[in-house]
Amino acid sequence: MQKNINILAIESSCDETSAAIISDGKVLSNHIATQRVHERFGGVVPELASRAHMQNIIPVVEAAFADAGVQKNELTAVAFTQAPGLIGSLLVGSCFAKSFAQALNIPLISVHHMQAHVLAHFIKEKPSFPFLCLTVSGGHTQIVLCKDYLDMEIIGETIDDAAGEAFDKVAKMLGLPYPGGPLVDKYAKEGDPHRFKFPLSEMKEYNYSFSGIKTSVLYFLQAEEKKDPGFKEKNIADICASVQFTLVKMLLNKLEKAAKNLGITQIGIAGGVSANSGLRKSLIEMGQKNGWTVYIPPFEYCTDNAAMIGITGYYKYLKGEFADLSVTASARATWA
Ligand code: KG4
Ligand code: ZN
Repeated sequence: MQKNINILAIESSCDETSAAIISDGKVLSNHIATQRVHERFGGVVPELASRAHMQNIIPVVEAAFADAGVQKNELTAVAFTQAPGLIGSLLVGSCFAKSFAQALNIPLISVHHMQAHVLAHFIKEKPSFPFLCLTVSGGHTQIVLCKDYLDMEIIGETIDDAAGEAFDKVAKMLGLPYPGGPLVDKYAKEGDPHRFKFPLSEMKEYNYSFSGIKTSVLYFLQAEEKKDPGFKEKNIADICASVQFTLVKMLLNKLEKAAKNLGITQIGIAGGVSANSGLRKSLIEMGQKNGWTVYIPPFEYCTDNAAMIGITGYYKYLKGEFADLSVTASARATWA
């Protein structure tokens, strides 16, 4: 009888410790331990993240096995996030995965986190190729042209801050806790997106820049607070709606330009910011206008999770792309 391809996947690149079991490309379990310890610091504290991963990793892996109903001796391979991310955090996951694979004498698969965000689309649905994916996370903003599962090219990206970082920084200016992106989204739902105008930065080709809008929101808030202390609290919904409107417009303008120029109609968004309701709604409208098939991952696969590492591991397994034990975690490795 043909054995299932059972992959244990580990994600630990930033502040979520996650483990998943994937069987023949199907997600059997996906456990995520979110680290709350960073909230009061207004951003991820790398040292605290590494320590929390150390505490979380064994319970998260045990929970993933228990949920999946898979035994350790039924595993075929171990996949893990090798890059990019916080080096201390990556080391916890990579050392764990290497030890696990070595102890069970099964193949080890190293996965690039950004490639995994794109392949999260192939967990539930199967876009056809060529597929164009806008990956928007806390550390990256990229337009990725996917010619095949493991054949991808970054055709545009941010030249400075990531879109998620812009959401989080604006939230911080408004006194909201980290990560502020989901809170900006929440307030934006009640606000007027046209009340305040912020500049749309125009970069060359398919590139982005988000540092300008951050600075302009900062100066705007400083000036308004001088005239009316309490301006931020009174207008938080309109500020969030107007900032979100501008960020979404910038993100989608470039995506539309790339899709039109390349003649691609299979379009998706990925990464933490793809959970944003404004982005999701506007992309659907843009898709209808242009005749695209639009792919939006379920929320659990937008932000960091091990299921996306597992699905990438599965495609690498099918191609025989294994890592040896000398593979090292990397904070900045490129991939496409
Ligand atoms: O992909 P991700 O979980 O981690 C990284 O690889 O960076 O993305 C995290 C980012 C954070 O900046 C967070 O604020 C943002 O995704 N985010 C959102 C929303 N949910 C998460 N930004 C805007 N609206 C949301 N609903
Ligand atoms: Zn991510």
